[in-house]
Amino acid sequence: MERFENKTIGVLMGGLSAERDISLTTGKEIHAALQRKGLNSVMIDVDRNIAMTLQKEKIDLAFIGLHGTCGEDGTIQGLLETAGIPFTGSGVLGSAIAYNKVTSKMIFNHEGIPTAPYRVLTDRDQPASPLQLPVVVKPADQGSSLGISIVKNKNEWPAALDLARRYSNEILVEQFIDGKLLAIGMNSGQPLPIVEVRPKSGFYDYESKYTVGKTEYICPADLSEGEKETCRAVAVQVTRALKGRGFPRVDVILSADGVPYVLEMNTIPGMTPTSLLPMAAKQAGMEFDELVLAILKTALLDHPFN
Ligand SMILES: Nc1ncnc2c1ncn2[C@@H]1O[C@H](COP(=O)(O)OP(=O)(O)O)[C@@H](O)[C@H]1O
Ligand SMILES: [Mg+2]
Repeated sequence: MERFENKTIGVLMGGLSAERDISLTTGKEIHAALQRKGLNSVMIDVDRNIAMTLQKEKIDLAFIGLHGTCGEDGTIQGLLETAGIPFTGSGVLGSAIAYNKVTSKMIFNHEGIPTAPYRVLTDRDQPASPLQLPVVVKPADQGSSLGISIVKNKNEWPAALDLARRYSNEILVEQFIDGKLLAIGMNSGQPLPIVEVRPKSGFYDYESKYTVGKTEYICPADLSEGEKETCRAVAVQVTRALKGRGFPRVDVILSADGVPYVLEMNTIPGMTPTSLLPMAAKQAGMEFDELVLAILKTALLDHPFN
C-alpha cells in the first residue's frame, strides 16, 4: 500500500470501442474501490487525445479499465510502455495475441490446447465447409458477444455474416460446441474458483452478460474434481501460451465427453456488478476492493516487454 501513497493512479476507461459503456461501468467501480482504499486516483476517459491527456494529468501509473479495441488489444499498452508509465495487466504482445481470436486459436492448435474447429472468412461468398451446422459466426476481434450469432439453419447465414462484418473485416466461423460454459479467472498464473455461466436465453449474449437476472452463475461450478482439474490445467496452459499477466480470464466450454474447448482469454475482464472475475475472487476470499488492489500491484511487476 505504501508504494501507492503519493502516487496518482489514472483509471483509463470509456475509450473508443463498441464496449465503451461496459468500460465506463468497470472504470467507475475501480475508481470507487481505489478511493475507498484512500488512494489518489483520477478517471480518464480515453479518446484520440489520450497521449496529451496523460502528459497533462501527470499520472504515475495506469489502471487499465478499458475493454475492446484500443484498450485490450495492445495499442494503449504500447503507448504507455513508450511513455514509461507502468500499467496493470498484460503487456503489448500478450494483449494483442489474446485479443485476436484467430491468432489465439493458431497458438492453441500449436500448443495442443483444445479449441473448436474453425474457418476464417476473408471473402463474403466463401463457404464455411467442411464445418457442419450449427456454427458460431463471430468477429475475430471483439468482445461482449458483440457481432456473434449462432447459425443453426442455412438461411440464418447471410444475416450472421452481415452482423459480424459490422464489427470486423476478419470473420471467424467456429463449430458450435455443446457443453457447460465456464470462466476461469486467474491470479498471477494460478486459477481462481471456476464460475459456471447459465444464460436463461441459452446464449450468453450482450444482454445476458450485463442484465441482472438474465443469467445464473454457479461458483464454485458444480463439477467433478477431475473436471475441475482439467479446466484449471488448460487455463494455466492458455495463460502461459498467450502471455497473460495478472488477472486474465479464460473462457471454456466443457463438452459432455470432458473436453475443455477454449474460446478465448480476456486480458481485461469486466469489473461490473455482474462480472465473473470479481465473483471468482470473492469465492476465493478476495473482496472487490482487495481484487482491485491486487490488480493495481501488477503494474509494478518487473516484466519483459510482452
Ligand atoms: N464455438 C462455440 N460453441 C458454442 N457457443 C459459443 C461458441 N463460441 C462462442 N459461443 C457463445 O458465445 C459467447 C461469446 O463468445 P466468445 O468467443 O467468448 O466472444 P466474446 O469475446 O464476445 O466474449 C460465449 O460465451 C458462448 O456463450
Ligand atoms: Mg467471451
